[in-house]
Amino acid sequence: MNNPLIEVNGLASGYVKGLNILQGVDLVLKENEVVSIIGPNGAGKSTLLKAIMGLIPIFGGKIYFKGNELIEIKSHELVQKGIAYVPQVSNVFQSLTIEENLEMGLWSTKNEHSNLFKEIYSMFPILKEKRKERAGNLSGGQRQLLALGRALISKPNVLLLDEPSAGLSPKAINEVFQYIKSINESGVGILLVEQNAKRALSFCNRGYVLDQGRNAYTGLGKDLLKDKKVIDLYLGKL
Ligand SMILES: Nc1ncnc2c1ncn2[C@@H]1O[C@H](COP(=O)(O)OP(=O)(O)O)[C@@H](O)[C@H]1O
Ligand SMILES: [Mg+2]
Repeated sequence: MNNPLIEVNGLASGYVKGLNILQGVDLVLKENEVVSIIGPNGAGKSTLLKAIMGLIPIFGGKIYFKGNELIEIKSHELVQKGIAYVPQVSNVFQSLTIEENLEMGLWSTKNEHSNLFKEIYSMFPILKEKRKERAGNLSGGQRQLLALGRALISKPNVLLLDEPSAGLSPKAINEVFQYIKSINESGVGILLVEQNAKRALSFCNRGYVLDQGRNAYTGLGKDLLKDKKVIDLYLGKL
């Protein structure tokens, strides 16, 4: 059997030593899965993605990528290994053009550049059309597509997405989710943090509810959607 793409065991992490935001989190992302992480504001969802991406210190527990433990590996090395990350905010450079933003995604890859551009442009025709414009001129939805394109240009096996639907119109949200689905169908495992919890749970294979830096509930997305406790505690309010 193949190792999971990502496995997180008893992860303790945070921003300041002695102040654990994540207090022993477990999570598995298997090949070809979409796994969503939901939970209230401040639960530690973004912190979990940052910890996996090597952006903040680990105080305890372990993170594995395809069975190999990640120890003090820098973010750019993780990109080379096949993990890409789209942060919750500031995920594009507004003053750079679309093309320049995509180039920023290339700096850590050794692949032949022109083909990668072609692939991204054929996947996202809107980015090709606007490639000489500044990212700051794009709509919110288009900016999110640019952030996805920039992450995909490194040819990842795993994509970490932090609230890709935040602040978007319903139409743009549908488009972003369609793209995420086709990215997943092309063989990329996806860890999806979402405030749109019902949408995320109906979209994913499995889901994790985080609360106060700990696992609260875990299961198939469709089961969590029907779970009375999950509904009462997390889905009503979100
Ligand atoms: N850069 C930071 N420095 C210090 N504390 C932070 C930072 N970012 C987030 N936190 C704290 O970590 C906790 C979890 O935040 P976060 O992971 O952003 O939650 P979520 O994404 O689930 O809304 C919160 O208490 C928040 O205040
Ligand atoms: Mg967050």
